Amino acid sequence: MTKGNFVFHNNVEIPNLGFGTWQIPNEEAYDAVTMALKNGYTHIDTALAYKNEENVGKAIKDFDISREDVFITSKLPAQTKGYDETMDAFNETISNLGVDYLDLYLIHAPWPWDEKGKDYTEGNIQSWKAMEKLYNDGKIRAIGVSNFEISDIQALLDNCDIVPMANQIPFYVGRDQEELLTFCKQHEIVVEAYSPLATGQLLDNQDVKDMADKYSVTPAQLLIRYCLERDTLPLPKSTHEERIKQNKQVDFEISQDDLKQLMDMEDVRK
Ligand SMILES: NC(=O)c1ccc[n+]([C@@H]2O[C@H](COP(=O)([O-])OP(=O)(O)OC[C@H]3O[C@@H](n4cnc5c(N)ncnc54)[C@H](OP(=O)(O)O)[C@@H]3O)[C@@H](O)[C@H]2O)c1
Repeated sequence: MTKGNFVFHNNVEIPNLGFGTWQIPNEEAYDAVTMALKNGYTHIDTALAYKNEENVGKAIKDFDISREDVFITSKLPAQTKGYDETMDAFNETISNLGVDYLDLYLIHAPWPWDEKGKDYTEGNIQSWKAMEKLYNDGKIRAIGVSNFEISDIQALLDNCDIVPMANQIPFYVGRDQEELLTFCKQHEIVVEAYSPLATGQLLDNQDVKDMADKYSVTPAQLLIRYCLERDTLPLPKSTHEERIKQNKQVDFEISQDDLKQLMDMEDVRK
């Protein structure tokens, strides 16, 4: 990690904190993304499935920032597998966003959401080959996956040319995914921490609150800092400006003892 950025194995840099946009309806996405840009975020995470790409793109375009200074991630829908299907979905995404390239494009999940766990290896390989082509053609600066387990990634390593640059996974205090983290590190795959606040469910946890008080930060700031301390890239989401601002102010250090205490916590979502 260079200051403020993670670096992919192809040397493309990605700002080390991104603005999440899941569950922000298209009508609200314009204001939310504008607030994020205003407060210094230069990395926005969206997906075709979020149905807000249009206003995410419009907010970026209308803001006083050049395209190359904003890092945009989008995702191939979980149910869309195959070479041609991937090309079509990618074209839909860049047309929605109104851009001519993406910074990062991810396979949203190894399986359609309603068939979680089912083997879609062949479909993922075909999608990955399409993404390799788009990458080689300069349409995407980095390609990656999301919700992929070790075996899902291994299938791409065994059958394709390009090692994914990122894996975006649920990662928060209590859900550390150690084995997957180690595997990604071994293959120089940057781990992006989605739901760093456990979609809000960790914010009222008493242990988290107590530790946050100790550092004079909010629970959200402690949880976001935790991801960075674990070498993962947090993607907090909020539609409130005070929170958007706060979530980016995470320039403090968690002591080794406190880090260990957080690492020992149970998953609040179990
Ligand atoms: N690849 C995938 O499959 C996948 C899956 C899930 C998420 N993601 C990505 O990760 C992003 C974040 O995950 P997430 O949306 O699950 O949630 P999250 O960032 O863990 O938590 C968001 C929730 O916490 C609240 N919140 C945010 N900051 C706060 C603060 N400082 N104080 C108090 N409350 C605060 C938000 O409320 P308000 O909005 O009302 O402020 C919202 O209810 C997503 O938006 C998406 O980009 C990816």
